[in-house]
Amino acid sequence: MQTLHVNVAGGAYPIYIGAGTVASHLPALVARTAQDLVVIVTNETLLRLYPQTLLPALREVPVRVETEVLPDGEPYKTLHTLTAIYDRLMRLHANRKTALIAFGGGVVGDVAGFAAATFMRGLPILQVPTTLLAQVDSSVGGKTAVNHRLGKNAIGAFKQPSGVVIDLDFLRTLPEREVRAGLFELIKHAIIRDRALFDDLEAQAARLVVRPAAGNWAFWEDALHRSVRVKVQVVQEDEREEHIRAILNFGHTLGHLIETHTGYTACLHGEAVGIGMIFAAFASREWGLLPGADFARIQGVLRPLVTPIAVPPLDEEAFAALVLHDKKAAQRAVKFIVLNGLGQAAIREQTTPAELWPLFQRFLAEVPGVLRVSGR
Ligand SMILES: NC(=O)c1ccc[n+]([C@@H]2O[C@H](COP(=O)([O-])OP(=O)(O)OC[C@H]3O[C@@H](n4cnc5c(N)ncnc54)[C@H](O)[C@@H]3O)[C@@H](O)[C@H]2O)c1
Ligand SMILES: [Zn+2]
Repeated sequence: MQTLHVNVAGGAYPIYIGAGTVASHLPALVARTAQDLVVIVTNETLLRLYPQTLLPALREVPVRVETEVLPDGEPYKTLHTLTAIYDRLMRLHANRKTALIAFGGGVVGDVAGFAAATFMRGLPILQVPTTLLAQVDSSVGGKTAVNHRLGKNAIGAFKQPSGVVIDLDFLRTLPEREVRAGLFELIKHAIIRDRALFDDLEAQAARLVVRPAAGNWAFWEDALHRSVRVKVQVVQEDEREEHIRAILNFGHTLGHLIETHTGYTACLHGEAVGIGMIFAAFASREWGLLPGADFARIQGVLRPLVTPIAVPPLDEEAFAALVLHDKKAAQRAVKFIVLNGLGQAAIREQTTPAELWPLFQRFLAEVPGVLRVSGR
């Protein structure tokens, strides 16, 4: 078992990482956090797979436990779902001594987190992430949100949890594709800030394609611990993403473009980010920032994990609009995250679509078999 500590203006809290941490660490956290009532927010899938996992752990804690079950999926990460949570909390007479537990992937974590940020001006929340993506990324750092019809994560708040319990046991039932999608965000942290972790992941690349299970807990516990540690460091340096936290968006410029342009149905977020990271490393090399040898190594680790994605036709105008997606018309450029070396991400301010377009063309030609643009 590994423990990390987050300490930011928005709160100080522990992160427990290992197999069996729900049984070993959740009860004490709940006892410290909730005084009369704890509401588990989860979804139908988790309830079916783990109907009896949290309840036994909470039996020894002298609080009432209720469960709010959401429908499963990103389409339900909405104000409508949020309202259902508020309704339930009102009916339960929840008050500021009540705590929430988000038990699920990033969708549950984001909605429950936003409910906790806003109900009665803020309730404590514990995150119990059950996907690799949520364990390594979304459960830590305090970003919460729901989607608006016109924009993903458009309505949100910063709300640090009061504790995060990362239990590797849940990964045993996670579909292979979801494991791989989360893996990209895990590797992202190594590429942007931890060269030694990258060295180790590269040396043990064969292990990355074997799902987490008893028998390889030590490898996964170490990888998760070191990856989450990077996220914690970056969040501690810049909780509100005023500057350096933006490096966590490495690979996300092209990643978001792929997700949006395919209508969010063709691929998982992590899969799009995996391709986006190869592109960002490629661009860094083309700009003379990243040594060719480092680019080759990054490509060597990521390429075997990539699921090729086909996107609809794309001309320069559409590309520019997608790159600038949520930017106001006056802003013609974006912050693009580059690498000055393996483990050394930096923000390249004022990067224009006009600069990225020719690089994108070269990327499609020189790194084939990753992204296919129809009509080409
Ligand atoms: N707040 C942040 O900082 C942050 C960061 C990254 C992503 N996100 C958000 O996270 C969301 C994506 O999260 P996700 O990838 O976890 O997706 P998800 O929450 O939709 O989970 C993926 C699928 O796996 C299922 N599942 C969850 N745990 C399981 C388990 N142990 N076994 C079997 N099935 C399981 C879920 O029910 C779902 O069907 C997006 O909405 C994204 O915007 C937030
Ligand atoms: Zn991401």
